[in-house]
Amino acid sequence: MSLRTEVLPASEAAAIARAAEVLRGGGLVAFPTETVYGLGADALDAAAVRKIFAAKGRPADNPLIVHVAAAEEVRALARTVPPAAEKLMRLWPGPLTLVLPRADTVPAVTTAGQPTVAVRVPAHPVALALLQACGRPIAAPSANRSGRPSPTTAEHVVADLAGAVDVVLDAGPCPVGLESTVVDVTGAVPRVLRAGGVPVEALRAIVGEVEVSSGQEPEDMARSPGLRHRHYAPRAQVVLVGPGEAERHAGPGDAVMSQRPRPAGFNKGGVWRTMPAELEGYARELFAALRELDAAEVRRIVVETVPEAGIGRAILDRLRRAAAG
Ligand code: TXA
Ligand code: MG
Repeated sequence: MSLRTEVLPASEAAAIARAAEVLRGGGLVAFPTETVYGLGADALDAAAVRKIFAAKGRPADNPLIVHVAAAEEVRALARTVPPAAEKLMRLWPGPLTLVLPRADTVPAVTTAGQPTVAVRVPAHPVALALLQACGRPIAAPSANRSGRPSPTTAEHVVADLAGAVDVVLDAGPCPVGLESTVVDVTGAVPRVLRAGGVPVEALRAIVGEVEVSSGQEPEDMARSPGLRHRHYAPRAQVVLVGPGEAERHAGPGDAVMSQRPRPAGFNKGGVWRTMPAELEGYARELFAALRELDAAEVRRIVVETVPEAGIGRAILDRLRRAAAG
């Protein structure tokens, strides 16, 4: 597939109008959300949605998240909205995706044949303006080639998908930097299928009991095939070590990702990437850092782990998947 990719500044009203027109015509638009850039198509147009899978090289069994401009629009996409979903919708717009029973209006290709549909209202003003201008729900996975780190800038999207997407709306770096939290609300107890921008603690504060998938349970992998696929993997080999242990494990030429500055005595000629001490900042820079180190053509990236609390849970999840790649 080869077409001309237009990269447009999202701050211009004409750019939003052009992107909406492309979506209504069955084309593909990459756009910023507060989490990562999405690769969007009209969620109700099966032919358009198929183009997403082709552009990303995405396995056909991996369902897409449907983005809507307002919570009320969920009712046209879901057969029922369980009480836990009603409560969690208070976190919208925001980095939370709810898995609901699918209504027949949603084509099977969008949900990869699942009886459920994943929906969210994104918090980024450009995403909301695009949804409003287009007037349709937008199906959008992260706008990376399948298996690559998710894109948090328009440059990342272009690096992966130039020639495979019609329009890229450029609004600079994404404020959260990690994908949405995916919560299945079809069962008796809400279940987190993917850790993300909304911490589990925030979900518990609203609905009480919440289960958290380890991402390894076969039943979760069948319902959310994204868990099973190779993910977030830079070309370099990623090795996880405990905090303060990087120097002991890094060999000559290896890159290090640590929340500490490069220690005075450490000089093996490799790249030392100091990550922000606070986890929100770390999350914002994580995918860009993995891409940067890839571009530096390092063979191995030694990464010090972070605490598994708040958004740290999502950071660790992405690091573990990168290391498993
Ligand atoms: O923040 C985000 O969620 C970004 C932005 C663009 O919204 N999107 C994103 O999409 O990360 P994607 O396709 O890269 O990841 C979607 C995840 C996958 O793990 C997929 O398996 C899961 O959500 N998912 C989608 N629909 C599902 C469904 N019906 N049931 C269970 N899991 C579902
Ligand atoms: Mg993705």
